[in-house]
Amino acid sequence: LSHKIHSYHIDMNNSPIGLFDSGIGGLTVARELHRRLPGEDIIYLGDTARVPYGTKSSQTVRRYAMECALYLLSKNVKMIVIACNTASAVALNHLKRTLRAPIIGVVDPGVNTALKATENHRIGVIGTPSTINSQAYKSRLIALAPKIKVWEEPCPLLVPLAEEGRFEGEVVELILCEYLKSLLRHRIDTLILGCTHYPLFKPAIQKIVGDGIRLVDSAEAAAIEVESVILREGLLNTHGSGKVMCHVTDIPRQVNKLGKLFFGDSLGKVSKVTIGEM
Ligand code: DGL
Repeated sequence: LSHKIHSYHIDMNNSPIGLFDSGIGGLTVARELHRRLPGEDIIYLGDTARVPYGTKSSQTVRRYAMECALYLLSKNVKMIVIACNTASAVALNHLKRTLRAPIIGVVDPGVNTALKATENHRIGVIGTPSTINSQAYKSRLIALAPKIKVWEEPCPLLVPLAEEGRFEGEVVELILCEYLKSLLRHRIDTLILGCTHYPLFKPAIQKIVGDGIRLVDSAEAAAIEVESVILREGLLNTHGSGKVMCHVTDIPRQVNKLGKLFFGDSLGKVSKVTIGEM
């Protein structure tokens, strides 16, 4: 797809914001967005039939991400937020080159927040294997601040733990210690939580790393960025009622329980939809 395949119309203030993720974890981003911009309607698309993205190749994630974005554009969203860190890391540039709507990923907001937070210029990043493998965070951090030192660590067990509702306790702490020990040896003062699911581990992570390390929640950072783009571009919804419509490509087991966990509130109706060539 070398040409722009979707023309973007301005004057769409009252259209919803489109958010997509590999599954339901991205509801942590929807929650922050809803909190900051309560008048905006949101269409959330979770590609639950093909989750996880975090262990798949960049090529496959790019294809899935394009299908998610095209689905949201077919619903006339005014902008697209890639809530998924893995998709942001490997597919943001591809989507931006191809589509004309405003598209925001979660990597840049996390990077900017971390650069403001660090005092000793030593930053750690945790994420899925595909996110860490892409080095998207590292290369962005270094591009913006060449003197910064960055260490990254994939944490593949955290997504399944979160989806089982386990964020604390002995087993979780043991696993977190194992993942974080090398980052701690490097005396980082800032840690980017580069995955939709990690905000839920914040208390456990903070307990292990101590108060001296600042945790950067990429969901929160992304919501702040979306808010500033909306205000800057004059895209504020003047008639919205703050509806959050949840669309998924498969209805997962315990969808309501998980939805509540990640969104912090009941989801209401969850609709099953078909995207791309599924
Ligand atoms: N949403 C993914 C991310 O933020 C985590 C789940 C997955 O691997 O698909 O990277």
